[in-house]
Amino acid sequence: MEHAKLRWWLSGMIRAAVAVVLMATAFATGCAPGSATRHPVQEESEEPAVNRLVIHTDAGKETISRNIYGHFAEHLGRCIYEGFWVGNNSPIPNTRGIRNDVVEALRQLNIPVLRWPGGCFADEYHWTDGIGPPEQRPTMVNTHWGMVTETNAFGTHEFLDLCEQLGCEAYIAGNVGSGTVEEMQDWVEYMTFDGDSEMANLRRANGRDKPWRVKYFGVGNENWGCGGNMSPEFYADLYNRFQTYVRSYSGNRIVKIACGPGSENYHWMRVVMERCSRRTDAISLHHYVRGSGNWTRKGSATRFDEKEWFALMKNTLTIYPLLKNSIEIMDKVDRRGRIGLLVDEWGTWWDAEPGTNPSFLYQQNTLRDAVSAGIFLNAFNEHCRRVKMANIAQTNNVLQAMILTEGEKMILTPTYHVFEMYKVHHDAVLLPVELQCADYQLGDERVPAINVSASREKSGKIHVSVCNLDPSNSRELQCRFQGLDARRFSGRVLTAEGMAAHNTFDRPQAVKPARFDDFSIKGDALTVTLPSKSVVVLEIE
Ligand code: AHR
Repeated sequence: MEHAKLRWWLSGMIRAAVAVVLMATAFATGCAPGSATRHPVQEESEEPAVNRLVIHTDAGKETISRNIYGHFAEHLGRCIYEGFWVGNNSPIPNTRGIRNDVVEALRQLNIPVLRWPGGCFADEYHWTDGIGPPEQRPTMVNTHWGMVTETNAFGTHEFLDLCEQLGCEAYIAGNVGSGTVEEMQDWVEYMTFDGDSEMANLRRANGRDKPWRVKYFGVGNENWGCGGNMSPEFYADLYNRFQTYVRSYSGNRIVKIACGPGSENYHWMRVVMERCSRRTDAISLHHYVRGSGNWTRKGSATRFDEKEWFALMKNTLTIYPLLKNSIEIMDKVDRRGRIGLLVDEWGTWWDAEPGTNPSFLYQQNTLRDAVSAGIFLNAFNEHCRRVKMANIAQTNNVLQAMILTEGEKMILTPTYHVFEMYKVHHDAVLLPVELQCADYQLGDERVPAINVSASREKSGKIHVSVCNLDPSNSRELQCRFQGLDARRFSGRVLTAEGMAAHNTFDRPQAVKPARFDDFSIKGDALTVTLPSKSVVVLEIE
């Protein structure tokens, strides 16, 4: 073959090979190349003239666990104290010391599961300090979060009462870092044993006759860091030992969770999976994101420019390769797909609000956080084959909170509203989608402008959650519903004038969902105009 022809032939072969790989990936993930799973930083590509979405409404086999919409509450800053717990004698309306307004707001989200007591706090928490008459409970120093005095007024009984008031499952993180095996075993027995035993009788003496249902139990938290600075090999041995004594008592089948890595620490994931997979039901993963800042200067939650907006969008999209790579490791060890991946801490992390204790991690929450949450949740939905739970950090007054409180006042954040809009995905069937969309470009960098997830609920209704990452331009999206003769469309949208729009105690409703009807139907296609910087949830019947 002459030189030019050979080059032409070779490039044809390479293109064909790439196409085969892409098709195989598409087949394996249920998504076509160029869909919601596109890598955050794009290579040069030809912009599609029209953004197109195909939803295969008659396909789909995986269920999106409601637990993906789970929450996390740590003894940190004002999350538990003030956020949940005000005490029986507070003028703030409460039920057995737990504030009613917060419970009511979380019930509106159909909160499925709550993780407690930490976080880093978990590995220095001794549960026996938090039972019995409150005035007799010892105090301790909360060394991770500001060296403040922990009164232990909120302990096991109060937490499990909170879960019952919320109507959610309890997820307890046990102490491996500074605790003992016996202490962990006793705690589980105290909470869940129905029979005659020292621990069950102690629970009765403290006012609770019947055991609680505790479905999820974490064996340690971040044991590669604040939970004991361990190597994965050392932790794996400890996990295997501790978990032996985490028993399922009296019909309470406990789901055991091994401590997984922080973000891209794939070595930890591999070692713990290889050494613990026979003895665990799940492994955790933590992933926090920010803009272009670093751990010392993370950036302001409310004062930022488009560069910082873009940086958060780009960093949020790292959740896709992170989940893909983590799941690949899990798949190699656990071929049957038995072990769940629980992203039990995730969200944005900014500098604490000026004038507040930096150790309390109190941050405001803008439309930027809401769009980031929309993307995270779409990613969890898309990987629901393995992702069986996720818990945003944290519920009240800490990090990417649902709720901010000030005395008796309470406001809902833009992120809360995303959780409320997305609750239509709870326990629905994930639908395969194909998305072709233009990029949102800033300088030399680009990310896909649109991010999507779709599901079908039991009644047959379809829901599509769509984020427009572009803060300046609205985007048209042409949607086709394969396998459905769609007749009725409606929608809700969360957006605002400014990138940094947020709710305050003076303007609590500045960012809230509104009815969305910026769409038209032509033939079998629905054309939607997504406002800039928005989260839209469509309902199709
Ligand atoms: O959510 C705040 C902290 O972040 C948690 O305590 C810890 O697990 C993580 O590093």
